[in-house]
Amino acid sequence: MIIDTARDIAILSARAQLAIALSNDPDVDEILTRFDRWKFDLWEGLAAVYDAQEVLPKLIEVIIQIHKDRSGKLRHRDRERLLNPDWFQDNKAVGYVAYTDLFAKDLNGVKTKIDYLNKLGITYLHLMPLLTPRPGENDGGYAVMDYKSVRADLGTMKDFAELAQKLHENGISLTLDLVLNHVAKEHEWAMKAKSGDARYRDYFYVYSDRKTPDEFEKTLPEIFPTFAPGNFTWDEKLNGWVWTTFNEYQWDVNWSNPNVFLEFVDIIGYLANQGADCLRLDAIAFIWKRLGTNSQNQPEVHAITQSLRTAAHIMAPALIFKAEAIVGPKDVVHYLGQGKHAGKVSDMAYHNSLMVQIWSALASRDGRLLATALSRFAPIPTSSGWATYLRCHDDIGWAIDDADAAAIGLNGAMHREFCASFYANEFPDSFARGVHFQSNPATGDRRTSGSAASLIGIEAAIERRDAAALDTAIDRLTCAYAMVFGFGGLPLLYMGDELGLLNDRTFVDNPTKKDDNRWIHRPEMRWDLVNNPNEAIAARVFAAIENLIKVRKQMPALHAAVSTEAFTTSKQSVLIFRRQHATGSMIQVYNLSEKPQVLEASALWPLTGTQFTEHLSGKQFRIAGTEVLPPYASWWLTQAN
Ligand code: GLC
Repeated sequence: MIIDTARDIAILSARAQLAIALSNDPDVDEILTRFDRWKFDLWEGLAAVYDAQEVLPKLIEVIIQIHKDRSGKLRHRDRERLLNPDWFQDNKAVGYVAYTDLFAKDLNGVKTKIDYLNKLGITYLHLMPLLTPRPGENDGGYAVMDYKSVRADLGTMKDFAELAQKLHENGISLTLDLVLNHVAKEHEWAMKAKSGDARYRDYFYVYSDRKTPDEFEKTLPEIFPTFAPGNFTWDEKLNGWVWTTFNEYQWDVNWSNPNVFLEFVDIIGYLANQGADCLRLDAIAFIWKRLGTNSQNQPEVHAITQSLRTAAHIMAPALIFKAEAIVGPKDVVHYLGQGKHAGKVSDMAYHNSLMVQIWSALASRDGRLLATALSRFAPIPTSSGWATYLRCHDDIGWAIDDADAAAIGLNGAMHREFCASFYANEFPDSFARGVHFQSNPATGDRRTSGSAASLIGIEAAIERRDAAALDTAIDRLTCAYAMVFGFGGLPLLYMGDELGLLNDRTFVDNPTKKDDNRWIHRPEMRWDLVNNPNEAIAARVFAAIENLIKVRKQMPALHAAVSTEAFTTSKQSVLIFRRQHATGSMIQVYNLSEKPQVLEASALWPLTGTQFTEHLSGKQFRIAGTEVLPPYASWWLTQAN
């Protein structure tokens, strides 16, 4: 072998470092094989951002320790996952997202709810932030004070590991949030920085005067203009301005510092060793700053993710990454890998655009904007998948692109304004009961909070005691969730949506929550509604969601490896999802309005013939020429003859 570059020497010595340190480890061959598989990707990621020669041996030290600490059971899980790498792409995969305390009081409580999750068909559970946050206000747990312990009232890390194991035994994977962009100002690193430790001051972006912050501010947006204006906070102890993209108590960490990178590899390995299967990379778009830009989606973000993921693949290959990048279509596809990063960064990414477009389409009873926006997406690696969702713990930001709106004759700003007003019930005949979040007079931007059931018309129908409106609202919710479950990728059911839980306005009584109305859609689980035949609304919504899950699991065409094409027919309220798959193609038809619509059989191509199976109802029927689609119909069709 000819050794001709610094890279090859560094890689060979890293391999030797691994081989020597693990010479007595029964799995040394496996880890070396994994190293060989990923070494060049690892090197490329590191070299794009850091002095790779200096960082690699330190990184290998971390990897060795994590591997040594990895239990036999989890090493077995590594092997299983390597044989079944598409487990999260599979049509049988279904996600559920919940706050531990609101769902089941604590981690031990979650164990007692596994039967419920199993019955619903859940295979993937995301428990919202549960690592120790700062006391008091903590942005719903996204201000982490200690990444290696669990919030005291939820249990201990031991409880977490036991829960993970129990979930695994029941065929459910466990996802945890990993907040990468910032730590709580009470985190040990921040405390050390405040006490004057120069090593830790370099873990943050600190400026002694306003000169640089002011330069950055010229192009930075404000994430929370209402309760956290500006992106920098003066700290007396630091005697400087520290970068705080979100709240003043969330300090952005400095990822250009390789020590920060090494700390996070250690945290990732630690959490993987407790049994986490997937890490949700919170606010990942923000981790690299560049003057003159909005400091989001910078190329270095992807190089860093590639380094983190390859390190994880070597030390704990059962672990996958899900990117939380709430950014536009052109940017978001990079989180799943484009160009040189294809297949080497996150395995999943949230499909924020699909979520926004579903709500926009329901308000306008028009699928054209949704179809236009989705047509802008570049192909994603076949080894990756979208996480699809209708609601989550966050607000809905009306990310409607001006050019997409113009393509169908709409004005982008006016349509965004329409969506915000519609969902806050400020528009005539609105079915929604949401509230505005972070109205920003400077930009005209207004986001929306509210639960799925309240936004979709269930709350309004109850308020008006209107039984027909209630039927319509439940059909509308079913239609929306059918799009989420039918799009391909991993559908995430947000806790309470399966029971049609309404807005919960009690957050205003809690001083640590009252200023943040995202708590309106973070209700407590209503176990009293589960399996209670007297609770007609909850039972109907539950049955509809359960059916979607059951049917999805029978449809191999929903595997994430192929993408959905979306288009409308001659009727703008009729939306078609086409999924061409080797196991047989599938056409989904949605009526986005409360009026019956005409469907032309020609829209069903490549399904030909006249005899179809509609899987959600289990019915077979003929469509020759045209057919009438009932209000809010959701049809998942395959050919029957
Ligand atoms: C993510 C979370 C959001 C949080 C923010 C800052 O966007 O979903 O709830 O406020 O990151 O951590």
